[in-house]
Amino acid sequence: MQTKVANAWAPLLALLVYGGGAVHLDVVPSDFLDGVTDAIVMTCLPDGTGVKARQILLMEISKDAETPIVNIQPPDKLNYAHGDGGLFQAQGAINNTDIAESYLTLTIRYPSSDNVGIYTCVMSYLDETGLLKQDRDMVRLSLNATNGASLDDKVSNLQKSVDNLLERVKAVERSNQQMLLSVRNQSDQLEAVKEKMSLTAAFSATLREEKNIVTGDTILFNDVMLNEGQGYNQSSGIFTAPSAGLYVFHVVLEIGYGGAVGEILLNVAGANLAKMYTQDRDFGDQGSISVVARLKKSDAVKVVVNLASGSNPKALSERLCVFSGILVRP
Ligand SMILES: *[C@@H]1O[C@H](CO)[C@@H](O)[C@H](O)[C@H]1NC(C)=O
Ligand SMILES: *[C@@H]1O[C@H](CO)[C@@H](O)[C@H](O)[C@H]1NC(C)=O
Ligand SMILES: *[C@@H]1O[C@H](CO)[C@@H](O)[C@H](O)[C@H]1NC(C)=O
Ligand SMILES: *[C@@H]1O[C@H](CO)[C@@H](O)[C@H](O)[C@H]1NC(C)=O
Repeated sequence: MQTKVANAWAPLLALLVYGGGAVHLDVVPSDFLDGVTDAIVMTCLPDGTGVKARQILLMEISKDAETPIVNIQPPDKLNYAHGDGGLFQAQGAINNTDIAESYLTLTIRYPSSDNVGIYTCVMSYLDETGLLKQDRDMVRLSLNATNGASLDDKVSNLQKSVDNLLERVKAVERSNQQMLLSVRNQSDQLEAVKEKMSLTAAFSATLREEKNIVTGDTILFNDVMLNEGQGYNQSSGIFTAPSAGLYVFHVVLEIGYGGAVGEILLNVAGANLAKMYTQDRDFGDQGSISVVARLKKSDAVKVVVNLASGSNPKALSERLCVFSGILVRP
């Protein structure tokens, strides 16, 4: 969950009534030694002792009356780290069923003189009578004067300061490392998508001349018009999927003469998925098959003949018979 700076209540807040004392900001510790103190924890809480809120609309913490560092609106829950290596950490929840459960916490890790200033917690809410109100509580965060500390204390503070500096450097390094991994991962994923997008398989083949067909034959569409991806083999009449994916196949046949009775089948990966029927005709009998199929890599697709005994028809040429297929998507 990210900080939301803009909020729908902003125009209304200009007309606010101040409730006074309905919110409390706790800053621990409220002063720190530059580079020595590990963390400052700021907690913004609805204050049960002041004016009571019925419904909280917004809680935020800002520094020196500038843009909020963090804010939360219901029904958000916050739990994130941001800034260099996660040096700012925010947590929070607004619970309008039990107002006292609501809180917003900002943790500043390894505070430095940059963090000195006045911190304000603002809470916008509806009071018990339903009136829109806004309350704030301020705390000054300052540097601790080290005057009067003994030499031993100064040395040990210096040591701690160096240790904390190293921690900060490590935190930044960790964050950079994570960012680098994430960028690499995204670039890997992009490559994978590009590779998939570049896959292609599309073929269309017809017959070069009239051809007798008999049961058991795989019809050889030997005049190849298109064969992108080289999946179709014109010597065997078999299309072999160069990659897994969703394919569409289409067969159009004109069969005639010789008392043709029987079926022409589209065989996909060993299964006859669809067929057309041809009947005894003096002239051609035309039919077509269309199938959408999900194929594994290397699955074979072919057009096979299964006729009644005694029929000996011809598959007609002149582009009357076409076998086509295309990979729609991986
Ligand atoms: C600030 O200094 C006082 C003494 O002047 C000391 O008692 C206190 O612990 C110091 N605070 C921090 C955060 O070091
Ligand atoms: C809000 O507080 C109530 C009462 O304590 C609790 O039952 C509920 O789970 C809390 N809701 C959330 C989202 O934490
Ligand atoms: C890369 O991203 C994918 C998808 O978001 C995720 O499943 C995977 O765990 C990530 N790998 C690494 C090394 O972060
Ligand atoms: C095409 O099919 C023929 C006949 O079955 C076979 O000899 C040849 O190896 C196949 N070509 C490819 C590239 O698979």
